[in-house]
Amino acid sequence: MSNATIRIDPAFIIGALNRRIFGTFVEHMGRCVYTGIYEPEHATADEFGFRGDVADLVRELGPTLVRYPGGNFVSNYRWEDGVGAKADRPTVLDLAWRSIETNQVGTDDFLAWCARMEIEPMMAVNLGTRGLAAAIELVQYVNSPTGTAVADRRAANGFEKPHDVRLWCLGNEMDGPWQIGHQTATEYARLAEETAKAMHRIDPGLELVACGSSNRAMPTFGEWERVVLERCFEHVDHISAHAYYEPHDGDLQSFLASGEDMQRFISSVVATADHVAALQRSEKRITVSFDEWNVWYQQRFNGENSIEVQHAPRLIEDVYTVLDAVVVGDLLITLINNTDRVAVACQAQLANIIAPIMTEPDGPAWRQTIFHPFALAARHASGTVLRPAVSTPSVDTAALGRVPALTTAVTVDLATGRGTVLLANRHLTDELEVVVDLSALGVIELLEHVYLADDDPHASNTAADPERVVPQPGSARISGGLLEFTAPAVSWHCIRFTIPAT
Ligand code: AHR
Repeated sequence: MSNATIRIDPAFIIGALNRRIFGTFVEHMGRCVYTGIYEPEHATADEFGFRGDVADLVRELGPTLVRYPGGNFVSNYRWEDGVGAKADRPTVLDLAWRSIETNQVGTDDFLAWCARMEIEPMMAVNLGTRGLAAAIELVQYVNSPTGTAVADRRAANGFEKPHDVRLWCLGNEMDGPWQIGHQTATEYARLAEETAKAMHRIDPGLELVACGSSNRAMPTFGEWERVVLERCFEHVDHISAHAYYEPHDGDLQSFLASGEDMQRFISSVVATADHVAALQRSEKRITVSFDEWNVWYQQRFNGENSIEVQHAPRLIEDVYTVLDAVVVGDLLITLINNTDRVAVACQAQLANIIAPIMTEPDGPAWRQTIFHPFALAARHASGTVLRPAVSTPSVDTAALGRVPALTTAVTVDLATGRGTVLLANRHLTDELEVVVDLSALGVIELLEHVYLADDDPHASNTAADPERVVPQPGSARISGGLLEFTAPAVSWHCIRFTIPAT
């Protein structure tokens, strides 16, 4: 047994917890929309055709923001096909996922769902097959007051009031050769700059996200961000980052350290953005929109060209394990600890497609293992993120070298008098004896300790056994300001306590 100690001091602050970190992603892909969040024939469907059982689970999951409509899908999407009377909407072939798109869900339907669910939408414009003109029209359709033809069209479609979407992505993964309309950094930078300028003419207050790299293994990583930001620096607020993690060659220990990879990714993007700021003699700070992240067993996916053309195919419906949930929990810890430079983060995706929520058509909806760390973090992390002093054993990984075995994120909310410790033991075999010194926070009482771990780290939830993996009550105790517990190998913890409120 090894020991880890954590010291918390309220004076050491990373920043206010940015709640947009708890974002999710709905793409027109596979069964995320159709038979995922939307299924008019389902017994629980509301008057708009959206599933009530899924809506209940989404509320429990607690995302604050949702990115839409893609993803790769957006790069060949005609938004006009998805508005107006449903009977008149065309059925088309989506080239991103070789799927039949019926357009029964589109911009208005989705944004109205977001409003009902009280989740902030984040939209993307198509800079693949389309570009400036379609982006300008879409932004006006979504955000402009009536009085112009395009905004009046929205009103005629039943939405008199603008949807007022503040956050927009300038395309998606334009660095990726798989993207419809893939571009070089120079080509994209120019298009993004002009699109951003035009979008700001419509609404100077829009927050814009330039495409960064699709992952940090891309050959253009780093250079892409520099070229794009040199051109777009004054016109955008955020640069995107995407990362999906899976074990390679059965190397679970490196996989468990995925949070370290994400940290290095964020640090590199921030350094590049700040380098461009220095070159431009600017005090402006570009932040990261980590608008796609998750565990995804990409090795099981045979590529877009292998997809048999159909409507709502069963694509990348990964079934997650306890170990995957610990990785997801650790990735959330990384995102929270970067609250000062990560402005947005979206777990990809929300339903069925590499998702926390699974559904069967005309059947049940249930929580995957990865649902739990997200829901716990989104519900309980609040207030201010503190920078803990951590003394932990390390663990050797083939992919990332020596990394900390324990990671933690700590928040305190003086308004509510609540504090939360999120903690992962990334070690594949060794448990950790953990002591968290909370004494500098004042009088403390333990509220709850729950954790994810299992004798079988490969256990998962299924339609037949949807509650196989749920958070377990833990045995943490607090005495004299010291919180103590044992963190089993491959475990993720959420510990809540009271502090004196101000
Ligand atoms: O989330 C699935 C896909 O992964 C998205 O469409 C794309 O942006 C990324 O490559």
